[in-house]
Amino acid sequence: MAEETLSIDGPAFLKGEVTVGGSKNLALPLLATAPLFSSKLVFRNVPNILDVHIMLRALSSMGIDFSWGGNKLELDCSKLRYVDLISPALSELRASFLFVASFLSRFGNAVIKKPGGDQIGERPVDIHLEGLKSLGYEANFEGDVIRFKRVRQVNDAEFILKYPSVGATEQLIIASVTGSGSKVFRNIATEPEVKHLISWLSSCGGKIKFYPEQRVVEIESVSSLSAQQAFFIPGDRIEGITWILTGLLCGNNEIWVKGVHHEDLNNVSGLFESLGVQFQEDKIISKRLNDFKNLNIIAEPYPGFPTDAQPLMAVLLSQGLGVGKIKDKVFPKRFAYLSELSKLGLKFELREDTAIIVGPQKLKGNEVLARDIRAGIALVLAGLIASGTTSIKQVNHLRRGYELLEVKLLSLGAKILSDQSLEYVF
Ligand code: UD1
Repeated sequence: MAEETLSIDGPAFLKGEVTVGGSKNLALPLLATAPLFSSKLVFRNVPNILDVHIMLRALSSMGIDFSWGGNKLELDCSKLRYVDLISPALSELRASFLFVASFLSRFGNAVIKKPGGDQIGERPVDIHLEGLKSLGYEANFEGDVIRFKRVRQVNDAEFILKYPSVGATEQLIIASVTGSGSKVFRNIATEPEVKHLISWLSSCGGKIKFYPEQRVVEIESVSSLSAQQAFFIPGDRIEGITWILTGLLCGNNEIWVKGVHHEDLNNVSGLFESLGVQFQEDKIISKRLNDFKNLNIIAEPYPGFPTDAQPLMAVLLSQGLGVGKIKDKVFPKRFAYLSELSKLGLKFELREDTAIIVGPQKLKGNEVLARDIRAGIALVLAGLIASGTTSIKQVNHLRRGYELLEVKLLSLGAKILSDQSLEYVF
């Protein structure tokens, strides 16, 4: 099948209402908890995106049946069986590494391919391995395969993460929620997705105390979990930021953003309010911003500015007055996307670990590659403000995380077209 191309005719002048889909970075860890259960699970507001489908294929391979429609997903975990987690698609999806935790809890061993690095830089798993070691699990490498097994029974454990990694925090919570004894993890990640994962596990009988200000989680392991009711996946905060930025860049009239918990955007609401965005009870209102003084963005672990949104900010900075800066303390080399943006005429300078963008700049359509999901959405935003046609290739990266992207943009008045039917994706 020929590679998909997404074409955008700009500049776009948008208005209307858009509803954010369920959080990708929550849906994936939630699905990774399924092997902890022997019963039925129901999730609502599950985003219909490629990454979720990759996780579902993995669940199928381990005997977990699912039925899915209208963003409601029902899983039947009663026939779970052990499998090695080595399919190529899984190793491309970093969140699948969280199956290690649920497999170790359930079977005492797990075999998985080492997740690869990607466009946003090196992605080591050393914190996951050290943390799992503190819980009695040993990891052995055979080429690109890691074999985990329980080597000692650990009841009580305390572990300090050397960096508040989101994935490692989730790994350790999922690995500890069932079993026996108590576990304490310090210097954990406190991203909203961690909080929501804890809510899910707690609603199933998990005994977890979360102290975000202290970066501590305390867990009394329970013998088993059982889902009492359907769990609604909150809106994706990064998609929420995407639509806020769409409004700031192209909203010739108001864009209303719905479906995202304002609380999940607490860390960025001050910044966006200073740009005129209004956070109202039932919606966020974003509108085009003219003549704004440029910004200095530093991506850091939550409650800092999210690294996943920094590529989008580069597009905003290209429209600000004067010098704008972006530094990423989470993935310090996450700037490969700038060379694609430069094909649309965006000028930047990389000074050590800081990208410098002087605005305002005029962008012009061209052919570009979406090298990863957030690089891809930055190109979509740039394509919307550029004059002429922007053709985006490697669209599969966008399909990993943005549900109904064209449908939502078309409804706001954008001229955007895929040269393929979406059905092939899933
Ligand atoms: C998650 C998100 C991703 C987001 C990132 C940071 C999912 C599915 N993905 O990724 O969208 O960009 O959080 O908010 O939720 N690190 C180590 N050793 C480890 C683990 C991480 O050194 O064992 C480093 C990483 O290289 C990186 C930093 O820690 O520099 C943050 O990574 P981490 O928080 O683990 O990101 P992910 O959980 O992979």
